[in-house]
Amino acid sequence: MSFSSFFYIFAENKISILIKIMTKFIAIACINQKRVLGKEGKLLYHVGNDLKNFASMTRFNGVVIMGRKTYDSLPNSEPLKGRINIIITSNEEFSVDPKYDNVYIVHSVNDAVELCNAFFEDKEVFVIGGESIYRQFMDENLIDEMRLTIVNDDADGDVFFPEYNEDDWYVYYKSMAQVSSYENVDKSFYYEILMRKKNNG
Ligand SMILES: NC(=O)c1ccc[n+]([C@@H]2O[C@H](COP(=O)([O-])OP(=O)(O)OC[C@H]3O[C@@H](n4cnc5c(N)ncnc54)[C@H](OP(=O)(O)O)[C@@H]3O)[C@@H](O)[C@H]2O)c1
Repeated sequence: MSFSSFFYIFAENKISILIKIMTKFIAIACINQKRVLGKEGKLLYHVGNDLKNFASMTRFNGVVIMGRKTYDSLPNSEPLKGRINIIITSNEEFSVDPKYDNVYIVHSVNDAVELCNAFFEDKEVFVIGGESIYRQFMDENLIDEMRLTIVNDDADGDVFFPEYNEDDWYVYYKSMAQVSSYENVDKSFYYEILMRKKNNG
């Protein structure tokens, strides 16, 4: 699906600037105590409750934004069903099977943001990784909320959730520790929802 034609109409009319304020970007990630996100292109943990939570939070017309490598890591490299998938890549030739009508391909973080501001401002927009995408959204202060699953483990990996200044965030919710019942992950984990303090961003 071509994004550029929609984008230019809105950019020319300067409407996107007016409605930008309304889009809420939520980073959602599963990390460990070292903020590790994954290793060798794969997730480090498959936490059953977490996967269910991820599905229920993002489904029903939610919007997910991801880097091309995270897209490649999805099961069968297929877009997530029931959600609008925005894939960021620098590759102008990148495409997905046209049978998927829920995919937008964009070529910068800014294009992804403008697309959401223009068309999905009434939806929850989830930034689902990987490292490079979280980092760019965080660096630009675009993230309003972080929904983290934190596994009580210190395994190494090669991609990390960005460090953030705790003074800029407050803990809105923190769950009790629980244990996964999926794929033999016997580590405990907990959920944390952090909100950006209004006066810091
Ligand atoms: N634990 C979690 O919650 C979680 C969530 C998501 C992902 N992960 C893990 O994270 C890893 C992937 O993360 P990653 O950082 O390596 O890759 P990534 O962020 O998923 O994708 C990187 C790719 O996105 C594109 N890209 C990024 N910034 C761009 C920009 N400004 N303009 C145009 N294109 C841009 C480029 O694609 P092109 O090369 O095509 O140009 C780049 O190679 C995997 O191990 C995955 O399993 C973990």
